[in-house]
Amino acid sequence: MPALSPSPTVRTFTPGAASRAPVGIFDSGLGGLSVLRAVRAQLPDEAILYVADSLYAPYGERDDDFITDRTLAIGQWLVEQGAKALVVACNTATAQSIALVREKLPIPLVGVEPGVKPAALQSKTRVAGVLATQVTLRSARFQALLERYAADCRFLCQPGHGLVQAVERCDVGSAELRALLHGYLQPMLDAGADTLVLGCTHYPFLDAAIRDIVGDRLMLIDTSVAIARQLERVLDQHGLRAARDSANTVAPRFYSTGDGTHQQQLAATLLHLEAAVERVRIVSPRTAASDSQAA
Ligand code: DGL
Repeated sequence: MPALSPSPTVRTFTPGAASRAPVGIFDSGLGGLSVLRAVRAQLPDEAILYVADSLYAPYGERDDDFITDRTLAIGQWLVEQGAKALVVACNTATAQSIALVREKLPIPLVGVEPGVKPAALQSKTRVAGVLATQVTLRSARFQALLERYAADCRFLCQPGHGLVQAVERCDVGSAELRALLHGYLQPMLDAGADTLVLGCTHYPFLDAAIRDIVGDRLMLIDTSVAIARQLERVLDQHGLRAARDSANTVAPRFYSTGDGTHQQQLAATLLHLEAAVERVRIVSPRTAASDSQAA
C-alpha cells in the first residue's frame, strides 16, 4: 500500500489555482510511468509533470545519501514548477528518503512501497515472492513492513538486478531479459509461491514476460492503482482536486535528466502517449561537481 501522512507546512493556493496546478510524479527513470498510467485512469482531469532521473538511474545500485539528495532536489524542482502534490513513484526513493523529503517539501506527498500487505492477505499457499531493488529490500522501512506481515506468510525476497536497466533500454521481452527473470522466478515457483509482489515501479512493464514464464501460477501484485487512489484521497483531503472537465485534460509534460529518447519510446508504445520529453538539469549536492563539468 502507498504511504501517506500530511506534510506539516502545506503550501496554500489562491482559489481556483489549486485546481489548475499540476501533480508532480517522479521516478529514478521510466518505472513511474506505470504509476502515471494508473493516475491518468483514476484522475483524468489532473495535469501531470513527470520527471525521470534517467541520467542517474538505477537508484537501486546507489548509496543512501545519493538517493535522498536526488529525491529532495527533484521534489524541490517540481515545487518550483508549481506542483501541488508529489508522487514519489519509486519504491527505492520512498524506502530511502520519504520521511526526510516529507519534512522538507511544502506540498503533500504520496510514496510507494512493495505490496507485502495485499500479498499476505491474498496468498493461499502462504508463500510469496518479492522482487525489488537491493536498496528497497535492505531498507529499514521494508524490513519493518516484512516483519508486520511475515508471521504467517513466508516472503522470498529477490533483488531484481538488471531489470531496471532493461526497462530503461525499453527492453521488456528480449531473450536475455527472459533468462534473467527465469532465474529469479523459478526458485519462487519451486518453493511453492503463488503470489509475486512487483516491488519496483519498473516491473509492471515486464508483466507479459513474467506471465510467459509463470503462466497463472503466480498472482502479480502491482500497487499502481492503489497509489492513484491514495493520491485521490490526498488531493481531496487538501482541497486540491482539479475541477471536472477543466482545461487540465492535456497530455502530461515529460521531463528527463537524460536524453529522453527511451522515455518517449516507452510512453508511446506502452502508454500510447505521444509527447515530447524535455531535458532538464536538476543539480543536487552529490551531482553538482559532475553537472558543472558537463555544462
Ligand atoms: N522504479 C524504481 C523503484 O520503484 C527503480 C529504482 C532504481 O532505479 O533502481 O524502485
